[in-house]
Amino acid sequence: MSPKIQLGQVSKAYETPQGPLLAVEDVTLAVEEGEFFALLGPSGCGKSTLLRLIARLLRPTAGEITIRRSTGATRPQTALVFQEYALFPWRSVLDNIAFGLEMRRVPRGAREQVARELVRRMGLQGFEDRYPHQLSGGMRQRVGIARALAQDPEVLLMDEPFAAVDAQTRTVLQEELLRIWEEDKKTVVYVTHSIEEAIYLGDRIALMSVRPRRVKEVFEVGLPRPRKLEMRGWPHFSALALKIWASLRDEVERGMRGGESAP
Ligand SMILES: Nc1ncnc2c1ncn2[C@@H]1O[C@H](COP(=O)(O)OP(=O)(O)OP(=O)(O)O)[C@@H](O)[C@H]1O
Ligand SMILES: [Mg+2]
Repeated sequence: MSPKIQLGQVSKAYETPQGPLLAVEDVTLAVEEGEFFALLGPSGCGKSTLLRLIARLLRPTAGEITIRRSTGATRPQTALVFQEYALFPWRSVLDNIAFGLEMRRVPRGAREQVARELVRRMGLQGFEDRYPHQLSGGMRQRVGIARALAQDPEVLLMDEPFAAVDAQTRTVLQEELLRIWEEDKKTVVYVTHSIEEAIYLGDRIALMSVRPRRVKEVFEVGLPRPRKLEMRGWPHFSALALKIWASLRDEVERGMRGGESAP
């Protein structure tokens, strides 16, 4: 079968007062159906831009992106979980989760049923009527994930969803995400700048470089599923982390030396 997501020589330039800024340059990539695909790279290498291109929130300046439709599917192709908590502050937890369904004019009863089921799956029982400011960071991010899952997209796009929570909460959320993903093995594109997170969650990892901003290397993770926390202590895990770090290190240093490549 053809890949679920295909990017062919995709570039994206932002217009800036100083001229066009190439945020993604000539990326060619294929993500398989049911794959958990991690996008790894230093700050500013174009990860969020690439994700927004796949979500069709942005249009590529050049190249093509195709997402293969499941036959007969009427559900949305993609749903995005944002880097920052992008919840509606004036909506309760339940209404935040149901938002996408409301936009698609799903009747209230059906919406609520889906939202309540996700409240259960994400361990948010008892918080249905709370507002985002009344929740911890970890909970807010769980609401963000529940809102994306409520739409039952063919592809789930996640932009550093756990970057803003503390390390312990992040570990718990990663485990929860894996547990939920194991249930229906959706195609996921997951942006992170943590090597450990990419290995722990992903089937494959695309490492992005800064100059040029493109995919530098793709790594096969090769750990069995379901993933277990103790796998982080396996020699294979640390060997892969070192191998990726060797490649990422150049990029981070280049990024630290600063300056934009354009114009
Ligand atoms: N709307 C915009 N207009 C102009 N430049 C932008 C815009 N959005 C992003 N950029 C620039 O494009 C480049 C890539 O940005 P992007 O946000 O995709 O990187 P990232 O890899 O997600 O970074 P981070 O890890 O910090 O989130 C950066 O140099 C950024 O400053
Ligand atoms: Mg980003």
